[in-house]
Amino acid sequence: MLLDVKELKKYFPVAKTFLERLLTREERYIKAVDGVSFHMEDGEVFSLVGESGSGKTTTGKLILRLVEPTSGKVLFQGRDVTSLSKEELRPLRRHMQIIYQDPYASLNPRMRIGEAIMDPLLIHGIAEGREAKEMVLDMLERVGLTPAETFFDTYPAYLSGGQRQRVAIARAMITRPKLVVADEPVSMIDVSLRASILDLMMDLRKEFGVAYLFITHDLAVAKYISDKIAIMYLGKIVELGRARDLFKNPLHPYTKALLSAIPVPVPGRKKERIRLKGEIPSAIDVPPGCRFHTRCPLRFDPCDKEEPLLVEVEPGHFIACHLHS
Ligand SMILES: Nc1ncnc2c1ncn2[C@@H]1O[C@H](COP(=O)(O)OP(=O)(O)OP(=O)(O)O)[C@@H](O)[C@H]1O
Ligand SMILES: [Mg+2]
Repeated sequence: MLLDVKELKKYFPVAKTFLERLLTREERYIKAVDGVSFHMEDGEVFSLVGESGSGKTTTGKLILRLVEPTSGKVLFQGRDVTSLSKEELRPLRRHMQIIYQDPYASLNPRMRIGEAIMDPLLIHGIAEGREAKEMVLDMLERVGLTPAETFFDTYPAYLSGGQRQRVAIARAMITRPKLVVADEPVSMIDVSLRASILDLMMDLRKEFGVAYLFITHDLAVAKYISDKIAIMYLGKIVELGRARDLFKNPLHPYTKALLSAIPVPVPGRKKERIRLKGEIPSAIDVPPGCRFHTRCPLRFDPCDKEEPLLVEVEPGHFIACHLHS
């Protein structure tokens, strides 16, 4: 097993106004991630899917320990990332990389492309000098930025969004990581270029055996690339399974609603759009019982009282819903 995430939680304290501080001593928290568990195998593509604010990015950052967890464990190749010191973490970092959503913010404008990609090699003491440069040129070719020599000396300002994201991918891959957290890597890229970036990521996976924790709000993208998919709602996984099982046989009413919003590519086949009532509730005041009950078209007696557990209903297919417990 590559990654084992156990009951991970992150509660951010809510800043209080002066008056609130006088009137109450009670602390309030944003429950960004509220008990998330899943595991990943080597070379797997695992997607976290959910609406804005469901806790996807925070989960990704907790796994890389870019954010400190409130509780829970993250075992990476058997070692608990959450209990390691900064010193102990450093050698692990080369095996766990991240690709951010915004290719305009993720590159230092004063660094040439070649230097930016070489940086991790120097930081981790993997290579230097001529050897490092060769590795970078090789990687530039690999991600389709050719002629590599030209791109090596170019500044990010001269690159398009798609090219910048190729640089970010090259930078993440240069240390040959085992796990890459890719946080909405194509959502800010022109629609016409998205498939080519995803294809590149899938090619690199085949070549290097890297696993992706892929974060997206777009189920159509997740379907295209994933081995497994977890659907998140307000800080919790509500359904998890192999991608094909989830699409063939979605069980959670929330998953069904998300799926119904994807346009059907088959002409002549009609699909009923399930429209959810209202907005996703605040992560500060999470609804009691099942946190989805306020919007669920199928809610019944226990839903606003008891929290459903994530249970396995068929091999490898998990769901947290009272209709299935
Ligand atoms: N550093 C922080 N301090 C306080 N609250 C935070 C912080 N980071 C995230 N949050 C809150 O935690 C919740 C989950 O945020 P997160 O960014 O993980 O969601 P997301 O699923 O990635 O959403 P999006 O699709 O918009 O990127 C949100 O309510 C967000 O406002
Ligand atoms: Mg996010």
